[in-house]
Amino acid sequence: MSKIQISKIPTIDQLRYHSLGKKRKKNISRESQKVYDNPIKINDLALEMHPEKIKMVVKNIIDENSQAKTIFLEKEKNLLPVYRGGDQIAIYLGKKQDYATQTYSISGNPLKKEYCITILKEDTKVSNNLYEKTKIGDIIEVSEPFRNIFYNRVLDQKEVLFLVKGLSITTIYPIIIEVLEKKLVKNAILLWEKDQEEYVRIQKELNKLIQKNLHFQMIALDEKNTKKTKEALEKIDLNHKSIFVAGNPSFYKRVNTILKDFELSSNQVHYELKKIKPSKLETKSYYMTVITKEEKKRISIHAQETILDSLLKSGIKVKSKCNIGTCGYCKSKLIKGKINTDQTYMRYADKQNHYIHPCVSYPLSNITIELPF
Ligand code: FES
Repeated sequence: MSKIQISKIPTIDQLRYHSLGKKRKKNISRESQKVYDNPIKINDLALEMHPEKIKMVVKNIIDENSQAKTIFLEKEKNLLPVYRGGDQIAIYLGKKQDYATQTYSISGNPLKKEYCITILKEDTKVSNNLYEKTKIGDIIEVSEPFRNIFYNRVLDQKEVLFLVKGLSITTIYPIIIEVLEKKLVKNAILLWEKDQEEYVRIQKELNKLIQKNLHFQMIALDEKNTKKTKEALEKIDLNHKSIFVAGNPSFYKRVNTILKDFELSSNQVHYELKKIKPSKLETKSYYMTVITKEEKKRISIHAQETILDSLLKSGIKVKSKCNIGTCGYCKSKLIKGKINTDQTYMRYADKQNHYIHPCVSYPLSNITIELPF
């Protein structure tokens, strides 16, 4: 295991730091030992500004189509944290509501501060549950908004092309509104491989943008028709455009193949971050020993399922948020065993010390992990 080398030769900064240390010690010893009755509640204030969980009331539910519903949320009291186009929230639905079970893009208009999520029926167990059971007036716990898309990165050019598949329009639509209404780009084109289903609310809003003549063009294509997508791209001048791609991993693969035929610079194309499932996963079952602060438990796990999913299914509390290995909420220590994992967003020190992100890790043997909770 490699070690981090620390220089033994003191630099000017280190010398200054040492002399500061002496000064600070002196200052501290001079301070009064009095305990203040009413200290500034800085931690309370920080928590209020960045709450770990927010209780929201379901204010409205609308059908987008026969397969998708949009749930509008409002905070019970106080103001909501602001969000930007492309932000997501995690929904807490677990036992005792201790852990996040799924992440959704906020699919509302960020300028109207509309908090809503669009859920596809039978997408996952959680979505199905939300789709079938949520009623107006229900209380749902969500995380503060966070982002996997830094859309200002797409604005390195003054023209933008959004290449979107199906329901990923719910992530892209708030970004389109923001960049057009705030005049952050000269023009934007949306090339959308739609499902057979429509997204009524979002399409209506996109049509409004076209009517406002905000230099916005929408091209709706048949689903999975690579030839038509390529033909449509050939009609667009891709020079001086930032291209932003949102969809599932198989869409990314197709888009990659198509875009190879265009002479684009490597920093022109940006992808929404997604969880990439390794292509070859065994169909075996294993055992996982889980060590928490309170207990040691052995559960059976499957090679096709992430370690996070196995933990949640067996009722073990695990913090999670992004579900794609970026936020570090689920970080745990691998004590024994082999795993298949995406380490793209792991820190160097974490890798060296055998930390893993269970949300993007799959077992390759019996394993033992230690949770920090
Ligand atoms: S939930 Fe974010 S890294 Fe695992």
